[in-house]
Amino acid sequence: MAKLIGVVLMLFSLVAAIPWAQSSEEESWATSHEFQKKETVITNLNFYFHDIVGGKNPTAVRVAQAANTNKSPTFFGVVMMADDPLTKTPDPNSKLVGRAQGLYGSAGQQELALIMALNFGFVDGIYNGSSISLLGKNPASHPVREMAIVGGTGIFRLARGYAIAHTHWFNATSGDAIVRYNVTVVH
Ligand SMILES: *[C@@H]1O[C@H](CO)[C@@H](O)[C@H](O)[C@H]1NC(C)=O
Ligand SMILES: *[C@@H]1O[C@H](CO)[C@@H](O)[C@H](O)[C@H]1NC(C)=O
Ligand SMILES: *[C@@H]1O[C@H](CO)[C@@H](O)[C@H](O)[C@H]1NC(C)=O
Repeated sequence: MAKLIGVVLMLFSLVAAIPWAQSSEEESWATSHEFQKKETVITNLNFYFHDIVGGKNPTAVRVAQAANTNKSPTFFGVVMMADDPLTKTPDPNSKLVGRAQGLYGSAGQQELALIMALNFGFVDGIYNGSSISLLGKNPASHPVREMAIVGGTGIFRLARGYAIAHTHWFNATSGDAIVRYNVTVVH
């Protein structure tokens, strides 16, 4: 029995010696509060993404590739930097609602699978200045893809959600695409 108590006391003193196990004190540079978000809302966003890779005024440009990228059927290793307009309708001249800025690249050796890391920054109405962050795999040859929304700013602070992408139009010669995005965010 005494032995057991000894072991328990020893374990206790070990735990007590670990600083983060014992104290709820704060540092001057870090304060914590209980978090309870009162007004959680779900917002649905529908817009069209214009990815122009050919011609004189591309919106997405190749910034890097691997030695074998051009021999790969999936362009494995290519990295693109995009600044793609987001519009209200499929017409490129329709109202600009935001821009998708960031990187995407070919991360699939067997199938076309893009890894997308994009900031969708909005410019229209109450959403002007707010953004959401998309991170996920985009098997672009599938008609419908789902990617994660991992965060946001402004109205979309603490956002999480998902984006459903449907190819609306694709030019196989140039690689240009118009993609409809239907994004559901909880924030
Ligand atoms: C969005 O906000 C910026 C900066 O605050 C402002 O210059 C711009 O005119 C606004 N755009 C719209 C469409 O309201
Ligand atoms: C597709 O892209 C090619 C090459 O840029 C261009 O010549 C052709 O007109 C485009 N097709 C359509 C329907 O826009
Ligand atoms: C967008 O997605 C939501 C939820 O996934 C769905 O309820 C809604 O009907 C979709 N809207 C359009 C225009 O496809």
